[in-house]
Amino acid sequence: MAKYILNSVEETIKLGMRLGESLTLPVIIKLDGEMGSGKTHFTKGIALGLGISEEITSPTFSILNIYEGSSLKLFHIDAYRLKNIEEALDAGLEEVFSEGGVVVLEWGDLLTSFFENKVINIQINDLGDNNREMIIEGWNDDNTRD
Ligand SMILES: Nc1ncnc2c1ncn2[C@@H]1O[C@H](COP(=O)(O)OP(=O)(O)OP(=O)(O)O)[C@@H](O)[C@H]1O
Ligand SMILES: [Mg+2]
Repeated sequence: MAKYILNSVEETIKLGMRLGESLTLPVIIKLDGEMGSGKTHFTKGIALGLGISEEITSPTFSILNIYEGSSLKLFHIDAYRLKNIEEALDAGLEEVFSEGGVVVLEWGDLLTSFFENKVINIQINDLGDNNREMIIEGWNDDNTRD
């Protein structure tokens, strides 16, 4: 387990970038944390690390956004609005979990039955102002100090 304190959006994005650069398949990155904790901003960093220049927007309404990285695809899912597994299937998420690509998942508790691949679990806690705590299971960079 690695723990990070991030004191600005830029620091969050930079950590996401380091994660994105290091990813190999298969991987699902499950992001947990209250609304506005920074899950989507962290995903912006992951996308940069995957070589995606397109702007990352929240998939709150679309459920799934797909981006083409320099070597890996990014599937960015926000499951907040999904009420049950049937809706997840309708949104095409089964294919996504079995396809080759990096999956980043916000509000993913409903979808745990799909996780066969390696999951990196990340909990983001809002410490107030621009400060965030990130607890990461399954990945740490070389500079981690726990
Ligand atoms: N250190 C930080 N890291 C990330 N976001 C930060 C930080 N400091 C402030 N913020 C702000 O917190 C908000 C995070 O929003 P974001 O959409 O990324 O959250 P979210 O967890 O995806 O929310 P939701 O559950 O609604 O999808 C933004 O307004 C951002 O500017
Ligand atoms: Mg979000």
